[in-house]
This record gives sequence, C-alpha cells and structure tokens, in this order.
Amino acid sequence: SAEIKTGPLSIPSQEAADKLVIESNGGEQQSTVSITVVGASGDLAKKKIFPALFALYYEGCLPEHFTIYGYARSKMTDAELRDMVSKTLTCRIDKRENCGEKMEEFLKRCFYHTGQYDSQEHFVTLDKKLKEHEGGRLSNRLFYLSIPPNIFVDAVKCASSSASSISGWTRVIVEKPFGRDSKTSAALTKSLKQYLEEDQIFRIDHYLGKELVENLSVLRFSNLIFEPLWSRQYIQNVQFIFSEDFGTEGRGGYFDHYGIIRDIMQNHLLQILALFAMETPVSLDAEDIRNEKVKVLRSMRPIQLEDVVIGQYKSTTKGGVTYPGYTDDKTVPKDSLTPTFAAAALFIDNARWDGVPFLMKAGKALHTRSAEIRVQFRHVPGNLYNRNSGGTNLDRTTNELVIRVQPDEGIYLKINNKVPGLGMRLDQSNLNLLYSARYSKEIPDAYERLLLDAIEGERRLFIRSDELDAAWALFTPLLKEIEEKKTIPEFYPYGSRGPVGAHYLAAKHNVQWG
Ligand code: NDP
Ligand code: BG6
Repeated sequence: SAEIKTGPLSIPSQEAADKLVIESNGGEQQSTVSITVVGASGDLAKKKIFPALFALYYEGCLPEHFTIYGYARSKMTDAELRDMVSKTLTCRIDKRENCGEKMEEFLKRCFYHTGQYDSQEHFVTLDKKLKEHEGGRLSNRLFYLSIPPNIFVDAVKCASSSASSISGWTRVIVEKPFGRDSKTSAALTKSLKQYLEEDQIFRIDHYLGKELVENLSVLRFSNLIFEPLWSRQYIQNVQFIFSEDFGTEGRGGYFDHYGIIRDIMQNHLLQILALFAMETPVSLDAEDIRNEKVKVLRSMRPIQLEDVVIGQYKSTTKGGVTYPGYTDDKTVPKDSLTPTFAAAALFIDNARWDGVPFLMKAGKALHTRSAEIRVQFRHVPGNLYNRNSGGTNLDRTTNELVIRVQPDEGIYLKINNKVPGLGMRLDQSNLNLLYSARYSKEIPDAYERLLLDAIEGERRLFIRSDELDAAWALFTPLLKEIEEKKTIPEFYPYGSRGPVGAHYLAAKHNVQWG
C-alpha cells in the first residue's frame, strides 16, 4: 500500500486517507477496520461500547473485515476479555431470535492487550498485533478513548507515534468531559491537535445519538406545519428537561469535580438547544449543520446568576428506606457545594428568538427518570374559547409540543378539542406518536449510531472544536461566579421534584414547567 506523508506523527489525516482510498480503488485493495477500546476494563466499555459494537455486527453494519482490541492496564487474556464482554451482550435487537451464534462469532473477533496509557512501547506491540490482523489490507483504525480525561493526551500521543504506516484513516473518539472550563478545554484541544488533525477527532456527546434528538430536525424541517411556527412569533418558551431518579452512586469522585451544570447542561442540553434553535442549514452536510449550531451558541446572551437555581440532594427516608444524600457518598467531601440540580433561563439574542426564554432543568436523585423537550406555544389571539367567554373548563389553553427523548420515546402535541356531546365543553388532548406503538423494532442505543458514524466518517453528530469553545464561553463565567461566591445550593430530598426555587425562576419568566 502507498505511504502517506502525515503531520507531526504518522496518523494520516482524513484528506490523505480519502485520497489514498481513491488511489487504491484501481487496485481493488480490500480494507479493514481495527477498533481499539482504550480503557476496555472500565464501566463505559462494558456497559455501552462492546454491546453497541455487537449490535452493529448483528445488524451487518460492520465491514466484512474488522478486529476489536480492548486495551487497558488490567491484566486480562483474550478469553477473559471475551468472558467479561459476553456478560453484557444482549440479543435486544430481535428478542425472538437466538443470537448466541452471532455472539460467538463476534467474540472471536475481540482481543485484548495489556498496556500502560503512557507507554509507547506497549502501543508499538499493539500496533504489531493490529497489523497481523489487518493482513496487508487497507488499514483503517478507530481508537475509542474510554478513559479518564487526564490520560487522553498520553494515550493519543502513544497511539499516534507507535502506528508505523497506516494505509487508511485513523480516527479517535473522545469521551467527555472535554475540560472543565474554557481554558482547560482549549488546552486539551491544543494538546490533541499536536497529534491529530481536527477531522480525526470525534468528540462524542451521546445525547446527539439518541433517536428523538436526531428526529428533531426531521420533525421541524420536513413538516410544513412546524417550521413556520418555530420562532418568537408563536413560541412562548422552550424547556429542556433532564432528570434521573438515582443519585451519583459510585461516580461521586468524578461528579464532585464537575457538577450537574458541566455534566449535563453545558453539553447534552445545550447541544439539543442548538439543534432546536438553529437556522435551516444549507444542507445535511456535517459542516453546514455545525456552522448553524455554532451561530446559535454565539448568539446566546451571557447567563446571569439570578437566572440560575442550584440544588443538592439530601438524605431522606421513605417507607422505612433511607436514601443517601449526595455528601453521604464517601468519595464526596462532607462540605461539598457541588450542585446535583440546576435550572436556568437562557436567551438567544437573534431575530428569531428575541425574548423567548429557553429553560433548562437537570437533576439527579429526583422523582423520575426522563429527558424531554417541551415547546409551549403562545395563546391564540382573541381566543373565542377562553375562560371568560364561558363554556370552557380549561385553565391553560395553549398548545404544547412534547418530544420525549426517554423513556417511552414519543412525540405528542397537546391540542384543545370539544368534549363530545350536546354541550360546549373544551378538553385538552394529546395527538400522540408513541414509538413503541408505531414501530415494532427496538430503538438503537445512541452509542450504536455514533460508533457507526465514526466508522463511516460522518461527523454530523460529533462536536467540532469551535462548537465546544462556544459552549464553554457561555457557561464558564457562570461557573466561575458560582464557585467564587461559594453559592450554597438549595437542598432537596432524594426522590423529590427538586428545589422550589426552580418554580420561582420559571414564574419570573412567565413560564410553568411542563
Ligand atoms: P472508568 O473510571 O471505569 O475508567 C476506565 C478505565 O480507565 C478503567 O477501567 C481503568 O482501567 C482506567 N483508569 C481509571 N482510572 C485511571 C487512572 N487514574 N489512571 C489511569 N487509568 C485509569 O471510566 P468509565 O468507563 O466510567 O468512563 C470512561 C470515560 O467515559 C471517562 O472519560 C468518562 O468521563 C466518560 N463517560 C462515562 C460514562 C459512564 O456512564 N461510565 C458516561 C459518559 C462519559 P485499567 O486500570 O485497567 O487501566
Ligand atoms: C452522562 C453523565 O453523560 O450521561 C451521567 O455523565 C448521566 O451523569 C448520563 O447519568 C445520562 O445518560 P443517559 O443516556 O442514561 O440518559
């Protein structure tokens, strides 16, 4: 295969790899993909990455020739890795089928290499092993960094400098957190770019891989009834709500350094907001979409501390069971002020959204687990059927569009209708698209979509560095202020609806949480 001249180290850029693929087409060179899960012994690898790779294999989405390598410091044999992985694989795709045979085939393609993350020597041995499997084919390599962020750069440096002559592309998936403020994020980007081109870095935000988040643009841009309403003229407010009915159990150490604003708002909810609010992109091309998202993020008004409520869950006893408070976790300092809940009002200072509150709410240890987008429309002007004109029993007559990201994925629109009968009583009902009723196939996990996109070089659902910079520019001053002022979070009982302050915040902007 042809040699590629690359940047400082031997990882070829996308452009070079694409060129090579074209050049190699004449010779019909077969290609192969080697996927290395760095940090394979960890929680994310077991819970999400290996099961997603298996689901892709089961669905026939992986190339004919592929090899999966787990890499971590823990000592493990190939057989032990397969044993570990097999425990988390499920036949969730089609429950009627026995996919044991497929699992066996898949596991035979999984291998393990023990190594340090900062050892070039260990990565050189990995490279040799990968080469053996690649067997002279056009070699494409995907590294998934499923490790704590403080070792990202070491791993990328060693992986890149040990790969001798990769003939195809090399891509690296990076997991959040991407820094903890503008400065640390920029430093991480700068370090990664010593070894990688921007188009080789796939920054993952798994919320962008969720089915209903992907559907957001389809809903808006392919239905004539929605797009014309998508502005301050008809929309009164938009809400992005994330809640979990469990605490930070087991992840307190990580969480205490970040808090809910960095863990959920600055990335997952802000990404959804950008997709929701962007202008129509020129095309569905990744760069066109990401250009529009960046514009939204850059048009956002700085967030004011008085438009933010923070909370922290405390221990509670219900039905004889005691649920621990956040600071009861042994890995969390007793006097920690880290928020496990936050609500905020954000504004986009552009012509489309001038004055429309975009409310965000994210919390752990709340009464329910859900993620949804709520679009509350304005009152019908001169509504014939308002309360004062008599004849209706409605308190709120505005329409509301709800996109339920999880669980029970669905989209419903609250409309007003007449209660059947001889009188004239109004009712509010849902026009309901419940995915489980409409589609028999299970919805793929977000990691399946994202891994497949990374293999195919589709960047639409990954975060570009300027998007990341804009997201941090919005949240960094707020986080700094909260931390410098040592703002005390409002305490809320485990399993409750969160701090009441969130309701006052909404009311201040003339909004009721959905
Ligand atoms: P883990 O803490 O389980 O770490 C993964 C592996 O990295 C471990 O098995 C361990 O492997 C190695 N490791 C852990 N700590 C250190 C250390 N201090 N120095 C060197 N190696 C270390 O992480 P997760 O699997 O939970 O997450 C991986 C990445 O994904 C992280 O960046 C995390 O923030 C992110 N993430 C995780 C989510 C989750 O649900 N778990 C959700 C979203 C993002 P060994 O000792 O064998 O080398
Ligand atoms: C992760 C956060 O990014 O998303 C976790 O770090 C959170 O704190 C998780 O629990 C939620 O993801 P999902 O897909 O389970 O809603």
